[in-house]
Amino acid sequence: MTEAAADVPVEALNRAAAAKELEHLAREIARHDELYHRRDAPELSDAEYDSLRRRNGAIEALYPDLIRADSPSLRVGAAPAEGFAKVTHSRPMLSLSNALDEDEVREFFTRIRRFLGLDAEAPVEVMGEPKIDGLSASARYERGRLTLGATRGDGVTGEDITRNLATIRDLPKRLVGATPDVLEVRGEIYMVRSEFGALNARRQEEGEAVFANPRNAAAGSVRQLDPGITARRPLRYFTYAAGEVSETVAATHAEFLDRLKGWGFETNPLARLCRTAEEALSFHREVGDTRSGLPYDIDGVVYKVNRYDWQERLGTVSRAPRWALAHKFPAEQARTVLQRITIQVGRTGALTPVAELEPITVGGVVVSRATLHNEDEIARKDIREGDTVVIQRAGDVIPQVVSVVMEKRPADAAAFTVPTKCPVCGSLAVRETGEAVRRCTGGLICEAQVVERLKHFVSRNAFDIEGLGRKHIEAFWRDGLVRSPDDIFRLEDKREVLTEREGWGGQSASNLFAAIAERRSIPLERFIYALGIRQVGQATARLLAKQYGSLDAWRGEMIAAEDREGPAYAELVDIDGVGPSVAGDLLAFFAEPHNLAVLERLAAALRVGDFTAPESASPVAGRTVVFTGMLETMSRGEAKARAESLGAKVAGSVSAKTDYVVAGPGAGSKLKKAEALGVTVLSEEDWSALARA
Ligand code: IVH
Repeated sequence: MTEAAADVPVEALNRAAAAKELEHLAREIARHDELYHRRDAPELSDAEYDSLRRRNGAIEALYPDLIRADSPSLRVGAAPAEGFAKVTHSRPMLSLSNALDEDEVREFFTRIRRFLGLDAEAPVEVMGEPKIDGLSASARYERGRLTLGATRGDGVTGEDITRNLATIRDLPKRLVGATPDVLEVRGEIYMVRSEFGALNARRQEEGEAVFANPRNAAAGSVRQLDPGITARRPLRYFTYAAGEVSETVAATHAEFLDRLKGWGFETNPLARLCRTAEEALSFHREVGDTRSGLPYDIDGVVYKVNRYDWQERLGTVSRAPRWALAHKFPAEQARTVLQRITIQVGRTGALTPVAELEPITVGGVVVSRATLHNEDEIARKDIREGDTVVIQRAGDVIPQVVSVVMEKRPADAAAFTVPTKCPVCGSLAVRETGEAVRRCTGGLICEAQVVERLKHFVSRNAFDIEGLGRKHIEAFWRDGLVRSPDDIFRLEDKREVLTEREGWGGQSASNLFAAIAERRSIPLERFIYALGIRQVGQATARLLAKQYGSLDAWRGEMIAAEDREGPAYAELVDIDGVGPSVAGDLLAFFAEPHNLAVLERLAAALRVGDFTAPESASPVAGRTVVFTGMLETMSRGEAKARAESLGAKVAGSVSAKTDYVVAGPGAGSKLKKAEALGVTVLSEEDWSALARA
């Protein structure tokens, strides 16, 4: 890990240290997300990555008021969408600075007056708007027609979601009346709470995983490669800002919002002009009071300087405009009774305590369960069955138990002890030193673990078999139809047993068999991931696939690696991102004869495709480049953006880690350093040729 603070136990951090570390973790996790999702070049094993996120979560649980707007725990959890083309935004999609209290809002007004050289009392009109809790997207219209839709991505480069965006009714496909040649709008894709509820109810019935909240549901729906699926999801869109616009269309934001409505866009009806900080604050309070009655989730209000000439002068600092401010609401809390603490057993045997709550509405969503994370957390907060607890729902964080209302504790409430036996199979549950979780040691005799592994096997990033959801797996397990992953590929032999079951008419059974048949061939990395080996997540599975190339080679080498002195073991731990801990879990998997038998049967039933490197990857992807001297065909900014869009990292100084130095006329010390370090030096032309290759 990169910083010393990671060694300090979370409990020992004071506020200032916690804030500092949260900032560091947000940056680090974002960097690793980027490496993993966008560059396919992870530096950490899944376990190491998870431990960063866990530490972030633990610090946030201790200091909920320090949770950052850019916290990794608040970020959309959807898997990266492979297959969307990248889009470089014609104007960057900015983010917002935050105010956490009223004084920071007053300070915002003061700062603006000072910057613009206005009197201390001069009115500064701002537009107050609800801050919609969805995901932002850009929509480009050329001559009044929708031509491009893009996600925000990192603000500079997003993904092309045109076909998905076109399915959203709130976005006109053709604009009404006269429009500029180019009109790019930005806004928020969101889902109305009631429609989110109905969607989840449907998914539950069909045995599919439910979404945690409306924002996740919206994000998951937008990231569908098949726009037909997006079209069936109840997505909405509020427009709230401009991107590239080819001519001046308004002098103020208020005017712009009016123009938007005229062209056929949806804008938020609660938006209101405020002339002073105090008016803005009362807008914040009013919106806060009506928040839970609104049909959609909001997490604050946004203030934007109304005059565009002032916005222009104010400009931006580090990707956030000086002319706008997000004023967040505190997380919504409620009190309810914790009826029982139950224990869930996961795929890897982890015992997770869960609070079963008297159902209560928090921020418009009915909550009846909350995770308690682990036994230390229960002890630290002294949570007992029968307690009245304060629960909180913030963004997409699963509801949390914040604290216990001690005055309401029943006299007979006893401290909770986590069982030392697995509640499902009765095997010993042990907590290894240094681990926060207790695990069932039952392995394959533990029904919970086996069923969870089967669910993992068919999950979205694994075999992803349409129509075979978690609920079906449970039912098929109970009936003895599916006991091991390979049974899935023999289901058709049991057609009669299946079609006797309620809800499985001939047609739906045939559909299921067709969906299963479609997955008889599968890429190696998905296959490895599907096995559900501890610590082998998607990134690690991919690393293994890349290293060994084929199922046979991988299997052979894993068995050979049992000899920890031999070359196979050395090769395994040498993979950047694997290491001894992951290797240990892989070997444990291969040491189990049952697993080898399952692998054998799966290999016979499937065609596992050899690893193939994506063809489209640019040879500069993942490489670090430094530009120095003058560039002739483009500006430095453009060169940087283009390099980054190809997955290269652009650095400001030359070091041993630099892969290329692109030197133009006038290059000086950086060029010298590159030569001294033996770094490849390219002309601008060489570089362009390489980047295009
Ligand atoms: S304005 C400079 N207005 O908040 C313009 N953003 O934290 C940038 N958001 O990425 C955005 N409601 O996803 C703006 N009424 C609103 C908003 C809003 C929600 C989101 C948006 C943005 C994020 C920044």
